Amino acid sequence: MRIVIANQKGGVGKTVSAVNLAYAIHSLRHEKKESVLLIDGDEENFAASDWVATGAKNGVTPPFGCVTLKDYDPKKHKATHLMLDTKGGEGEDALLTLSKQFDLLIIPSKPEAISLRALIRTIRPLVKAGRTNYRVLLTDVASAPSTSGEEAKQSLLDAGVPVIGQMIRRATAVEDASNRGICVRDVKRNSRASLVWMDYTIVAREIFAQILQQEAMK
Ligand SMILES: Nc1ncnc2c1ncn2[C@@H]1O[C@H](COP(=O)(O)OP(=O)(O)OP(=O)(O)O)[C@@H](O)[C@H]1O
Ligand SMILES: [Mg+2]
Repeated sequence: MRIVIANQKGGVGKTVSAVNLAYAIHSLRHEKKESVLLIDGDEENFAASDWVATGAKNGVTPPFGCVTLKDYDPKKHKATHLMLDTKGGEGEDALLTLSKQFDLLIIPSKPEAISLRALIRTIRPLVKAGRTNYRVLLTDVASAPSTSGEEAKQSLLDAGVPVIGQMIRRATAVEDASNRGICVRDVKRNSRASLVWMDYTIVAREIFAQILQQEAMK
């Protein structure tokens, strides 16, 4: 499966989601001998590549390959599943093109009103073009008693926007994992790290269930 993660807005959790979902898809599918390749399409910040390089300095090699988009060669870099992280600020046309080139476009968003407004703008051209292979992923969602995540999800669903059921909760473990170049699952002595990891694994399962359902309907 080819997955791309993009949003017109920056700082919404694209890189965090690309890396942790790459781990989650590996853990879900490696027994079926399926492999994952993380492609870093942010050629200004190289955040995903940096994440992996930082991990390597700390002695952690992810169970998937990582390559920059510029160096990606489909003949050389064979993998069952591709996960492309993009830079912030992709234009509307770029998103539409990406949705045509990939099996699934994941659009991460934080639940704040300002992010949601940007999100509605982002997906307008996708709706207009009749695309159906995109899903919003709510990230960095504050825990109860805050209801911001549920409210954001409901307002998106009310507006007809497809949203992944599982949201990614907010946790300092996410920043820790990014600083150390590791999977959030491997942040020790932080009980919320395993909860965020569980969120990403549920999202990965949801993605595969949806794809299988789409294929069955073809
Ligand atoms: N679940 C979460 N809990 C806490 N912080 C989070 C969570 N998800 C993302 N963040 C934080 O939000 C910030 C932005 O995340 P990230 O770098 O993944 O966004 P991005 O969309 O890739 O940004 P850019 O557009 O700059 O590439 C980071 O500081 C990250 O640690
Ligand atoms: Mg990024």
